[in-house]
Amino acid sequence: MQINGRTFLVSGGSSGLGAACVTEFARGGANVVICDVSERGTELERELGERVCFVRTDVTDGAQVQKAVDAAAQRYGALHGAINCAGIATAERVIGRNGPLPLENFTKVIAVNLIGTFNVVRLAAAKMLERAAEPGEDRGVIVCTASVAAFDGQIGQAAYSASKGGVAGMTLPIAREFAQHQIRVMSIAPGIFDTPMLAGLPEPARESLGKQVPFPSRLGRPAEYAALARHIVENQMLNGEVIRLDGAIRMAPR
Ligand SMILES: NC(=O)c1ccc[n+]([C@@H]2O[C@H](COP(=O)([O-])OP(=O)(O)OC[C@H]3O[C@@H](n4cnc5c(N)ncnc54)[C@H](O)[C@@H]3O)[C@@H](O)[C@H]2O)c1
Repeated sequence: MQINGRTFLVSGGSSGLGAACVTEFARGGANVVICDVSERGTELERELGERVCFVRTDVTDGAQVQKAVDAAAQRYGALHGAINCAGIATAERVIGRNGPLPLENFTKVIAVNLIGTFNVVRLAAAKMLERAAEPGEDRGVIVCTASVAAFDGQIGQAAYSASKGGVAGMTLPIAREFAQHQIRVMSIAPGIFDTPMLAGLPEPARESLGKQVPFPSRLGRPAEYAALARHIVENQMLNGEVIRLDGAIRMAPR
């Protein structure tokens, strides 16, 4: 699928990897609906013009995601793709200084990263099905964001790794189910990327994280994530797979 003239929903599009996708896709001629709880998406809307529209959306809420999906079709005529970048990261031990991890902390990460992603996938795909497609043509493309923590999670990442393992795990069964609808489903498992999610860390910690990457020995750039998301949309043979985008890093236990 070529992105020019097509319409994509980008969850988490107000920041980091999602914002890079919004810019990459809009500059490539696509229409983009940003779904995010952060109003920073309105800045991108102003910067990139008519092709981009921000709809304040909590991905865990069915009615709000439905509203965003409907807005995409109403404003731009149809929905062709969804890039799922909304997510939160936490680092908490199962048994911490104050005792066992409160169950709601675990639940919250699963709700946003896994259930929120699934919520967007199901409602975006249903909207894509409203559009007729020629035999052999992509009716839609869905890209989800897992993490290398799905495979080599560190101490403190039980909830985050479980949520991202869930995203990785549902990629193939959904791709298999949607094959009959000519909708492809892929996931990207990023290593360590330089986004606001990492901005809270002091510079020495960020530098040290970058040095752990075998090659290139630096943090990933959001534009590199966006380039892969775009390539997935454009390359029809990519389906049902999780691609690590990580400079060969394998995370240590801590
Ligand atoms: N940065 C990294 O190193 C890295 C590595 C692996 C995976 N990831 C994943 O990539 C995705 C993007 O992360 P990022 O680094 O760009 O982080 P980020 O914090 O810059 O962006 C995440 C965005 O998601 C939004 N969001 C959070 N909860 C939401 C909700 N309930 N509904 C709608 N939007 C919500 C935030 O407002 C934010 O704009 C996340 O899923 C993250 O887990 C990031």
